Amino acid sequence: MEEKPFLKKLGFIVAVASGAAVGAWLLTGVLGLAHAARLGSVAIVAVAMTYAILLALPKRELKEKSFLQNIKIKVPVFLVIATIIWFASGAAGFPIWWQIEFVAFAFVGLTYFVILDLKAMQPEQNHISWITRLIATYALASLIFINITGQLPQFDPAVEIAKLDKPPIKLSGLAGPEVIAAGRSVFEENKCFNCHKVFWEGNSDRGPNLGTKQIGLYDEEYIKKQIVDPRAKQSPGFEDPKSTKAMPTYYGEDLDDDSMHALVSYLKTMRDPEHAPIEGKLGEQWSWFDDKDIIAEGEKIFNGEGEGAAEGLNCSVCHGKDGTPMMTGALDFRDANKMDTEKMPDRLDGVPLKDWPDSLWYKRVTRGVDGTPMAAWGTVFPHLVLWKTESYARTFHSPLESRTEKSPLPPVPTKEDIERWQKDGLFMDPLL
Ligand code: HEC
Ligand code: HEC
Repeated sequence: MEEKPFLKKLGFIVAVASGAAVGAWLLTGVLGLAHAARLGSVAIVAVAMTYAILLALPKRELKEKSFLQNIKIKVPVFLVIATIIWFASGAAGFPIWWQIEFVAFAFVGLTYFVILDLKAMQPEQNHISWITRLIATYALASLIFINITGQLPQFDPAVEIAKLDKPPIKLSGLAGPEVIAAGRSVFEENKCFNCHKVFWEGNSDRGPNLGTKQIGLYDEEYIKKQIVDPRAKQSPGFEDPKSTKAMPTYYGEDLDDDSMHALVSYLKTMRDPEHAPIEGKLGEQWSWFDDKDIIAEGEKIFNGEGEGAAEGLNCSVCHGKDGTPMMTGALDFRDANKMDTEKMPDRLDGVPLKDWPDSLWYKRVTRGVDGTPMAAWGTVFPHLVLWKTESYARTFHSPLESRTEKSPLPPVPTKEDIERWQKDGLFMDPLL
């Protein structure tokens, strides 16, 4: 039978398909089907039509392609796809090793399609020859695989054993910065970074960011207790069952005394003189200036009812229990428009009390106002309790109940910020 020309077939297929599409549309309408279902039925006809057209395409004579012809289109397509994959996975935040792996997968795809189109080999003459080919292919594949994986970062048993055999930290003879550096390596080696960020470092937020939480404000006993027995007190915002059970309880056994001491010394450096501590889980964090529990504690301390480290501190003797200053000249916290003192050379000009940055509160309360009874309380009392009194003092002109929104969260301090704090002497004492 003579083959019909393609155009004739095409006309026939399109005519039948159009009829079928109209029929499907009308029929589904009569049946009262949903609009999407009606469109779907027409789409099915369209797919069937495409398939029929493909089948009707004139047969091309099959010719063996040369190797160059084989890769002529495939390689540029691969390059385009690989570039897209590379940038898309980079934009999606995948680490570089993943990006390389994704592109490698695309390369495997290229190889696969190139091999599919390779010229067929000569048929094997005998058993020996097909076995040799099989073994040769296997050997070649293994060789390539071993060589490529050899370039990847290796697990080196010697390095791993050296880590395990590392002599325990000995602190005798070590001074401040060295102890802190040793503590930092204890933090790294015990995988604390798997759950805790430290300011900008680390990439997991399962536990609190120990930097912005300012764990360094707490005393050594408290920090140690939280590491040895993390269930003793839950971090605010981490009371859900999953977080409660997250922190491992074996560190007390794993860490010897010197390592623990170094670790705590490192954590003690985590403080921020420019922002109040931040509590809570990423996404639902809040500042101490908006924390009702902290404000309640602050009220007690402000009124001289603080216990332990806060014993003896009393702001109300001068500033008044209800905010009416008891001492002439003491700042009246009820007046939201009071300005910074004129007695300090670093005066913050033109900013009313209601808009004072956290850093000004911190600086004035820890360092006092020269030549006045407002003493440098930060040299006498832990800064932890002073931040609490500041959170409370703010409520005299801005009661917590009347606030309509939370204070905006400050950006996470960077390495440069921390260097600047140290250079500008913003800490009273690195470990207070
Ligand atoms: C598997 C996750 C995980 C690891 C690993 C981990 N932690 Fe925690 N950690 C948490 C979680 C979650 C919390 C908050 C809940 C709680 O208080 O137990 C927490 C709480 C803490 C607290 C208390 C903070 C507060 O609010 O008082 C300290 C301190 C702490 N971790 C230090 C460490 C140190 C140091 C290491 C490494 C030796 C470490 N963590 C390892 C998950 C972890
Ligand atoms: C012995 C009395 C006294 C005590 C106690 C005291 N203050 Fe003051 N405070 C003053 C006086 C006086 C001033 C005004 C200084 C001046 O002349 O600028 C002042 C000013 C301040 C200022 C404003 C500084 C400025 O830039 O204007 C703040 C904030 C402050 N006090 C907070 C506190 C807090 C918080 C406490 C408790 C931790 C406290 N004070 C305890 C006497 C006291």
